[in-house]
Amino acid sequence: MKKALIFGVALAFFCSTGLVTMAMAKDTGPAVMTLLSTTDNAKKPKPVTFPHAEHQSRLKCGACHHTKGPDGKQVAYTEGMKIQKCETCHNKTSGMPKALDSFKKIGHKKCKGCHKASGNKKLTKCGTCHKKK
Ligand code: HEC
Ligand code: HEC
Ligand code: HEC
Ligand code: HEC
Repeated sequence: MKKALIFGVALAFFCSTGLVTMAMAKDTGPAVMTLLSTTDNAKKPKPVTFPHAEHQSRLKCGACHHTKGPDGKQVAYTEGMKIQKCETCHNKTSGMPKALDSFKKIGHKKCKGCHKASGNKKLTKCGTCHKKK
């Protein structure tokens, strides 16, 4: 009886911690988000409506997310790593190559680059990402 109780408590403990770690590992971010540079201060801001979850259903996280090593080089995505805003690194003051130093530049390189490669012409139209209100 006592053994069964201890077993039960232990089981409940492992299940609950298991669930907590699962919930933490599953931080997949917002399903849809609005992307807009916070540093470029464009005269005519062009927000992007980005269906994140829809891309997650087809692509690996590392297709877009990565991080930076101590030497300043790109480090590939690994499960559970801290995911930061693109502009944390891609800005004018963190020593990025000029071609990668703004949200617009990397947005167009990464997002538009893949859209272009897909061959679907609709996906490279400005209004596909920069939706008009
Ligand atoms: C595949 C998606 C995609 C397409 C297509 C696209 N853009 Fe972008 N664009 C982005 C992303 C992502 C950003 C960075 C986030 C932001 O600032 O809006 C951006 C940023 C910009 C910015 C800077 C906006 C700001 O407020 O700082 C301009 C201007 C811009 N794009 C113009 C265009 C034009 C013009 C076209 C069509 C020739 C175009 N974009 C097509 C994704 C796209
Ligand atoms: C097609 C590109 C793409 C893919 C694939 C993708 N993400 Fe993202 N994710 C983004 C972009 C862009 C942002 C917004 C970053 C920003 O605001 O600077 C983002 C934001 C996030 C955030 C919120 C970060 C924050 O601080 O606001 C989390 C968490 C996240 N992604 C997790 C994931 C995980 C986990 C996967 C894989 C299951 C994944 N993403 C796949 C592009 C992608
Ligand atoms: C922790 C820092 C960091 C964050 C956050 C980050 N990057 Fe990068 N990124 C880098 C570094 C470092 C490089 C390599 C720069 C070089 O070539 O010198 C790079 C390179 C790139 C490149 C060019 C090479 C390639 O892989 O195509 C693109 C495009 C890019 N990042 C897009 C993004 C996008 C989109 C996000 C947000 C979803 C993001 N980055 C978030 C550090 C970061
Ligand atoms: C590695 C490839 C890849 C990357 C990177 C990528 N996309 Fe896409 N995206 C696609 C494909 C493929 C589709 C079309 C899916 C379908 O057939 O419905 C799509 C669809 C979309 C759509 C919906 C178009 C519509 O109206 O049907 C938007 C908006 C979009 N992407 C924005 C973005 C933005 C913004 C980024 C960068 C933060 C991004 N994508 C990065 C491949 C990519």
